Amino acid sequence: MNEDQKYLYFLTGNFNKFNEVLEIFNKSKLTQYYLLTPSRTEPIEIQANSVREVAEFKINSVLDQMNDSFFVEDAGFFVDEPLYGFPGVYSSYVLTVLGNEGILKLVEGEGETKAHFESVIALYFKPTDEIKIFEGKVEGTLAKKLRGDKGFGFDPIFIPNELPDKTFSEISAEEKNKISHRGQAFSKLIDFLKENI
Ligand code: IMP
Repeated sequence: MNEDQKYLYFLTGNFNKFNEVLEIFNKSKLTQYYLLTPSRTEPIEIQANSVREVAEFKINSVLDQMNDSFFVEDAGFFVDEPLYGFPGVYSSYVLTVLGNEGILKLVEGEGETKAHFESVIALYFKPTDEIKIFEGKVEGTLAKKLRGDKGFGFDPIFIPNELPDKTFSEISAEEKNKISHRGQAFSKLIDFLKENI
């Protein structure tokens, strides 16, 4: 840590996510100003109707426990066709209970699929004492079977429209970050931090 650097805490227990975000941060010029640091402070996770509501509640639930700038990031996976957006805000639960195989069973024989990921970052920015929201979204389709061994969560079954031959699990974190929901949300966060140095 150098004397120009401030702590920027990422409240997450998911090391895959942390590593994706670290990859984005290390590429930006922000490392000279901020030290991205994982924090195990546990925000309250509510069941809500949108990913944004979950992230906003989380950040507010730990405001009194944090002394530096910090952020949370929430994501959801939505199978728009034929599942009308399921699992959406139930993504974690459904991944645990049904798994990727279970999702593919639900859409078997249904023809065309459409899916997307959403990412919402809620940042508490200490210098101005405000909460900022940054969002990202990536559209794609479902693979017929699980493919690839990189990434995490629903990555083995999601094919982004930008790379129609590959699932997210078949590309590197760097390639995923260029197009992913999380990559888009974090590039907005980084722009904000750069403008406010
Ligand atoms: P959460 O925001 O970490 O709660 O994510 C909700 C669910 O979506 C979890 O089961 C994650 O594993 C999954 N998930 C979040 N981000 C991604 C991603 O980038 N790729 C694949 N699955 C993800």
